[in-house]
Amino acid sequence: MYREQIIKKFNPTLDNILYILHDLQDNNPEHYLAKQDIRICADYLKVPYSYVQSVASFYTMFSLKPRGRNIIRLCDSPPCHLMGSQSLLDYLKKALKVNVGGTTEDKAFTLELTSCLGACGVAPVMMINEEMFGNLTPAAVDAILDKRRKEL
Ligand code: FES
Repeated sequence: MYREQIIKKFNPTLDNILYILHDLQDNNPEHYLAKQDIRICADYLKVPYSYVQSVASFYTMFSLKPRGRNIIRLCDSPPCHLMGSQSLLDYLKKALKVNVGGTTEDKAFTLELTSCLGACGVAPVMMINEEMFGNLTPAAVDAILDKRRKEL
């Protein structure tokens, strides 16, 4: 039901496809585009299902599989690399017991990589959902994860 309410906020024109997909994903409790999301978007825009699916799979900001409540996006661009993002990635993998693209068993976190987040001055950087964190260290990451776990 919520899907119909979402898409009706937009005109049924192809230039709205990314806005529609964003809104559908943001409102999916598992933070991804389910087949029903792709289908309703395709029907609304009167394009083939495969067209919408190819758009959704092209952009890394969309996921086609369920994700956790907190989506961690660690910057994987060279300035953050130089400031230690690779060792932070190893730390996050160990702390969360997941690989890149994986979701923790309790569905609390999904670990992803992203290109530059535009905050290179405070590298290494990661985002969790819409919040940015810079000058990261393993201790800072621990504190952030603990705080997020308590908020669940
Ligand atoms: S390179 Fe990481 S924020 Fe720019």
